[in-house]
Amino acid sequence: MIYLDYAATTPVDERVLAKMMPYFRENYGNPSSIHRLGQKAEAAVDEAREKVASVLGCRADEIVFTSGGSEADNLALRGAMLANKESTKWILTAKTEHPAVSKTAIQLEKEYGFLLEWLDVDEHGAVTVDSLAKAVCNNTTMASVMYANNEIGTINPIANLAEVAKANNIFFHTDAVQAAAYLDVNVNKLGVDLMSLGGHKFYGPKGVGALYVRKGTKLVPHLTGGSQEFSLRAGTHNVPYIVGFAEALRLAVDEREARTAHVKPMRDHIIGTVLETISDSKLTGHPEQRLPNHASFVFKDVDGNLLLQLLDAAGFACSSGSACKTGNPEPSEVITALGYSRDWALGSLRITLGADTTPEHVDSFLKTLPSLIKKTRNLNHR
Ligand SMILES: Cc1ncc(COP(=O)(O)O)c(C=O)c1O
Repeated sequence: MIYLDYAATTPVDERVLAKMMPYFRENYGNPSSIHRLGQKAEAAVDEAREKVASVLGCRADEIVFTSGGSEADNLALRGAMLANKESTKWILTAKTEHPAVSKTAIQLEKEYGFLLEWLDVDEHGAVTVDSLAKAVCNNTTMASVMYANNEIGTINPIANLAEVAKANNIFFHTDAVQAAAYLDVNVNKLGVDLMSLGGHKFYGPKGVGALYVRKGTKLVPHLTGGSQEFSLRAGTHNVPYIVGFAEALRLAVDEREARTAHVKPMRDHIIGTVLETISDSKLTGHPEQRLPNHASFVFKDVDGNLLLQLLDAAGFACSSGSACKTGNPEPSEVITALGYSRDWALGSLRITLGADTTPEHVDSFLKTLPSLIKKTRNLNHR
């Protein structure tokens, strides 16, 4: 199997795994316990927090460990909106966001009575400074715009958007779950108040993440109970995963240049070849402002789910944007937000590269793809 789905998840780096292992059996204490085993575990969590803070350029007490990117997004949005109780307040976000953000925003509107406005995106799926500036009003509490899009790879101008937010005195959250593997996540350079991260997108374990919370940003706790994580997120710390998360993030930053140099030429080769050799194909997302490991397309008159199955049978693990509903596939919200008609939007394909991808994998994929596209088009026309 040739794995071309690194935006879905990544394997745990062996160096990360080695750091995690002692915290499963030898140092299994609960960081909240007073005794020495507890202290050892607490020291490991403290060290991980310092490590994450040094990557993000913030204070250790501005990091809240969570069970992943989704939970960090939920805590940011629900936490900040509920801390500003008046339900006549607006939250601004875009339809291109991951459901962890967009569905949370919808729930805030439906269940809590907050006001939700969808920000316009341009043809590449980017939220522009103008679209945010236009939407902000006196009653806006927060805006949430993702750093890099999981489906189409587009990188949003976060520092510029955060400036608009600051000038208007509203909170700014960014979901950096995809971005952290390749982009600078220094929170002061970005100017964000809240930022979500998830470990399994950068060779850390699944089920662990973090939310950066700028000092002074009030949040309503999201899991109530013990006083872990500054009383914002109760529950016994998942020590080995927190240790793994921090080490994986450190490695991602230390090795960012080399990792980018490894994947980018292969990504460019895929984009160039697909657009040149496959008729009725279009790149989705921004041609330049995109993640260096990310290639995404739509193909006219192609059933994206069938294409994925054929690719799987041919030995390639890729992904698409359409949610598979038996007999009634629906195009993804993201592709639809870009303005594609259904005959294009249903044929989306995402190829994301990573540490183990080789030029041979890419060549083999590029040799296989055209015939599978042809096959799905033939079946479509029956
Ligand atoms: C942009 C983005 N946000 C949030 C998430 C959710 O992260 P997790 O799987 O850690 O809950 C993902 C994962 O696919 C993502 O790509």
